[in-house]
Amino acid sequence: MAASEHTTRTGPKPRHPSFASITSAVFTARRTIPDSSSLPLLQRTLHDASMMIETPRIRLRFWLDSDREAFAAMHADADVMHDLGGPIGQNASNMKFDRYLRVWREHGFGRWIVETRDGAFLGYAGAMPSRVGHPIGPHAEIGWRLVRPAWGQGYATEAAQAALKDAFSRAGLNEVLAYTADGNLRSQAVMVRLHMQRDPSRDFTLDHDGVKAWRGLVWVTRNGV
Ligand SMILES: CC(C)(COP(=O)(O)OP(=O)(O)OC[C@H]1O[C@@H](n2cnc3c(N)ncnc32)[C@H](O)[C@@H]1OP(=O)(O)O)[C@@H](O)C(=O)NCCC(=O)NCCS
Repeated sequence: MAASEHTTRTGPKPRHPSFASITSAVFTARRTIPDSSSLPLLQRTLHDASMMIETPRIRLRFWLDSDREAFAAMHADADVMHDLGGPIGQNASNMKFDRYLRVWREHGFGRWIVETRDGAFLGYAGAMPSRVGHPIGPHAEIGWRLVRPAWGQGYATEAAQAALKDAFSRAGLNEVLAYTADGNLRSQAVMVRLHMQRDPSRDFTLDHDGVKAWRGLVWVTRNGV
């Protein structure tokens, strides 16, 4: 199988058996990202804990409570958190974990846990809706964060390619943004490898995860490009 090919499947015990029957109705329509306050009830309840995507080397899967420890250890690493305000502790990491889980439950897509095919935690990647009141308006944004030993092996790009394909095909998004700080050249290199286009007209400044006046440079990719 070529590096960019992957399969999406669900495991044997879906938490919500009705998911398959209702996804096609909800996700076949191309959609834009509303503020979460305006989401219909059906979308708020859509998630499926058994969903996963497999690529040649890695797996993207739903969040498990048992991921919290590895998630917190990643966020305690100064290298990983270099341009994001520095390391954060267990409580802040858990709040972030809860937020990502909540987004999945509300919108039916979000960040995925990324692991090796034999189950070693690598980090997360995936597209999720912007926060309510974001300075450039409602949109979907893809992000990635890997544990330090996993850098330099192509895992972030492989995970992001799979997550983007899912965001466009299953979740029905038209456009996904990515943003990063000026100095985060590794993250910018991932955007280039994904063939995302720089869009300076949408650069913004906001207080981001406790960092004051964080400047985000924006890249964009669209379905079918
Ligand atoms: C941003 C981040 C995810 C990038 O990870 P990365 O490993 O550099 O990115 P990729 O997965 O695309 O890997 C590319 C590298 O793997 C190498 N590589 C090795 N084996 C490879 C393979 N089989 N296939 C593809 N690339 C491979 C590439 O040559 C490239 O090396 P280089 O960095 O020396 O040029 C990572 O640095 C990170 O988690 N940073 C902290 C969090 C962060 O800043 N997130 C973004 C916030 S905006």
